Amino acid sequence: MKKKLIAGNWKMNGSAASNEALIQALLAQSSGWNCLVAVCVPAAYLAQVRGLTQGTGIELGSQDVSAQESGAFTGEISAAMLKDFGTRYAIVGHSERRQYHGETDAVVASKAQRALAAGITPIVCVGETLAEREAGRTEEVVKRQLAAVIHANGHCISEIVVAYEPVWAIGTGKTATPEMAQQVHGVLRSQLRAATEHADRVHILYGGSMNAANASQLLSQPDIDGGLIGGAALKAPDFLTIIAAAG
Ligand code: PGA
Repeated sequence: MKKKLIAGNWKMNGSAASNEALIQALLAQSSGWNCLVAVCVPAAYLAQVRGLTQGTGIELGSQDVSAQESGAFTGEISAAMLKDFGTRYAIVGHSERRQYHGETDAVVASKAQRALAAGITPIVCVGETLAEREAGRTEEVVKRQLAAVIHANGHCISEIVVAYEPVWAIGTGKTATPEMAQQVHGVLRSQLRAATEHADRVHILYGGSMNAANASQLLSQPDIDGGLIGGAALKAPDFLTIIAAAG
């Protein structure tokens, strides 16, 4: 069985001092880890966190990547630049990017493509809003979001990570029940199966108020292969408890 993946999404949080304290606190407990662990940090701290994590059990991730290769795109960061800093994962299509930066399914698919071409694993986020769930559209929405990435990435699709993050559960303290999450993860797994014979290799993470108290129940579902953790990833004891639950 594949090891679970626990990825922290620090969002726009941290400082040079607090990053160092957090990473040191995690590394102090890293000897018994039995899952993959990553931290997706603000771009400004990639170099710092790489220095702190290189050669350890913590992999480095970014929170975004440009859909462009290079050139006149002020403020953008290319996949090749991320790779230069030892970035192993790049979150793409987080709901905050879709909502506040107008990222479409097509843009998200291009970002996944750029990451894969540079040897970075995209963590492709999908998820429905509360209005979409209440309208019974959850499956349709997540399938549409994933289909764009499958379409653009063809046979490489088994190299991605998928994160199911119901928008109404992000940062709200409202978590999907393990059964609700598993139901959607099952849908996503079937969709991947139709696209690749290696669908079982793909990590499908749950994200949205996963915390120290609810992680082990969520992670015990058959198609939940890990977590994308926001708020709880900023507190070493909580993140360590989730990592232990994944082992
Ligand atoms: P949360 O965020 O754990 O704070 O809900 C998860 C995410 O947005 O990736």
